[in-house]
Amino acid sequence: MSETQKYNRVAIVLHWLLALGLLAQLFLGFWMEGVPKDPPGIRAGWFNLHKSIGLVLALIIVLRVIWRLMHAAPELPALPAWQKTLAHWSHRLLYVCMVLMPMSGFLGSSFTPYPIKFFGMPLPRLWDASADLKELFGAVHTATGFVMVGLVGLHIAAAIWHAVRRDGVMQRMSLKKSMSPQLD
Ligand code: HEM
Ligand code: HEM
Repeated sequence: MSETQKYNRVAIVLHWLLALGLLAQLFLGFWMEGVPKDPPGIRAGWFNLHKSIGLVLALIIVLRVIWRLMHAAPELPALPAWQKTLAHWSHRLLYVCMVLMPMSGFLGSSFTPYPIKFFGMPLPRLWDASADLKELFGAVHTATGFVMVGLVGLHIAAAIWHAVRRDGVMQRMSLKKSMSPQLD
């Protein structure tokens, strides 16, 4: 596979860093909902960890979006048109989710009466608490979380399908140089 058919190194590193971070964050988000409120402190500790990791991920997502806007995706290999369309739109929607998740999480948390603690450090309050806005952004966060889980599931299933077919799609996101020079 020629290097022009692959994502560049920065895009690949950002993809895998976020894939790991976001999968863990999605899992943590749903899991922490089940942590009991009693004894006090434990649930809040997990919520604060989730918020802190979310803010770090937000920064990486901003970098990724900027990088992506400056670099077009490499040309896809010969695939049926419906697969190219599905890939195109699912990737776009994944980007929308990647932006909406930290944004809605941050906004929802910023309208509660409690400060957001970034790894223990309270962040300055930006505006007054509002139960309605907390509810609104919380609902966006939850709904987008479910959409994202569905999209990521589809995305991983597609990646495995392409890997089994060895049609070159998986290699586009691989840091390894192609092992088969005759394919270059
Ligand atoms: C939360 C987890 C993940 C997210 C949010 C995500 C998101 C994305 C996005 C947005 C793209 C398009 C890149 C672009 O055009 O800029 C992409 C490409 C890709 N992803 Fe993921 N990904 C995730 C996990 C995974 C996993 C676990 C795998 C493998 C099992 C994978 C395999 C791939 C591959 C092979 C491509 C290249 C597709 C192509 O050639 O067009 N991704 N991913
Ligand atoms: C970076 C990506 C993020 C992902 C993938 C993510 C994912 C999730 C998921 C799946 C849930 C459980 C569903 C729900 O109840 O809403 C959740 C809950 C929550 N997230 Fe996030 N989150 C992210 C970022 C953030 C950020 C940056 C904050 C705040 C600074 C945050 C604050 C919260 C809070 C407070 C809850 C509990 C909501 C409630 O119980 O009403 N999240 N998150």
